Amino acid sequence: MTCEETRVAVDLGERSYDIRIQAGLIDRAGSLLRPLMRSPRAFILTDDNVAPLYLDRLTRSATEAGIAAQSLVLPHGEGTKDFAHLEQVIDALLAARVERSTLLIALGGGVIGDLAGFAAAILQRGIDFAQIPTTLLAQVDSSVGGKTGINTARGKNLVGAFHQPRLVLADTQTLDSLPRREVLAGYAEVVKYGVIDDPAFFEWLEGNAEALIKGDDAARRHAIAQCCRAKARIVAADEREGGQRALLNLGHTFGHALEAETGYGDEMLHGEAVAIGTVMAMRLSVRMGLAPAADADRLERHLVGLGLPVRLPGNRVWTADRLIHHMAGDKKVKDGRVTFVLARGIGASFLTPDVPLDALAAMLSDFTNTG
Ligand code: NAD
Ligand code: GLY
Repeated sequence: MTCEETRVAVDLGERSYDIRIQAGLIDRAGSLLRPLMRSPRAFILTDDNVAPLYLDRLTRSATEAGIAAQSLVLPHGEGTKDFAHLEQVIDALLAARVERSTLLIALGGGVIGDLAGFAAAILQRGIDFAQIPTTLLAQVDSSVGGKTGINTARGKNLVGAFHQPRLVLADTQTLDSLPRREVLAGYAEVVKYGVIDDPAFFEWLEGNAEALIKGDDAARRHAIAQCCRAKARIVAADEREGGQRALLNLGHTFGHALEAETGYGDEMLHGEAVAIGTVMAMRLSVRMGLAPAADADRLERHLVGLGLPVRLPGNRVWTADRLIHHMAGDKKVKDGRVTFVLARGIGASFLTPDVPLDALAAMLSDFTNTG
């Protein structure tokens, strides 16, 4: 196995930071983080799946670098990204008497990263934090760009803050322990970057996705770096989502509606919802005469070939009306209108609020079993 490192810079002036991508980084995390720390104290937040696999190694590398590290292990799953667990995290940090100079380290997937980032954003009006993402989804998307937050009963990510990490350490080796279903769910966010504005990357994925999913390190590093470069470029141009950053929400307006309907649990993972949502965005674009049907077919073929869902599961009753109702509660609604990410084809996505309700309802009816 090759252990080369790839680095991507996120250029945000005084909030700039590096994303380092390499197998085995956790064992060097302490020495990589220490120069960025304002005091030799850290607090690690992780979940009960990740802790038995990687917490000891991270704590050991912190100790070796002279960092005193405490930790809190939360239950795994999307349900942890809520007010109750945020309160638990804040209370644990205050009980440990963390100071503003303490570094909060998120060790885990997007759930831990979003929750830890938000806790870091609001504790003592903001402490430093670092991301050690351990899922494919977190390595290509959620650990980068500074969006942090939690869900509420009324929807996903409705409470949060922009708070950039000081460093992102993507240890590709951690993906070896990730269940295949989770790897595939993360892959939905990988393919997203190709569909947004990089047809050459989409083509590369058509040839290399299988190797990437099976764990080929060079393929993994290439894909993660390509996604992080794309995200870094978009975030550097539009950190607080005044415009183009919303392109990164491709498939998410639909995906969030599917997650709201299925209850944010194991029934449908975030990435699975995004996969179906991305196909929905493409099918809507076709229905509106914007994109060729051949591109929607090509996307579907690629996702199906890897084993990702592209249709709604038949185990529950879906209605277009309910999905539209969920979309209206999404945070991307502006002046009462939903901003959609549509595409003129693979690699040519754009933002628009102009989607006729009848086209939306008709596209959704093609996916639902009840019209
Ligand atoms: P997750 O954090 O729930 O991780 C998925 C599962 O994998 C969990 O059960 C976790 O315990 C387990 N796990 C994590 N790393 C592992 C490893 N190396 N080996 C074995 N098991 C491991 O979910 P996720 O898919 O990483 O993230 C989804 C979340 O990310 C959602 O809440 C979504 O809203 C958020 N998100 C945020 C952004 C952003 O910009 N902030 C972007 C995309 C998604
Ligand atoms: N995942 C969307 C964003 O970071 O903007």
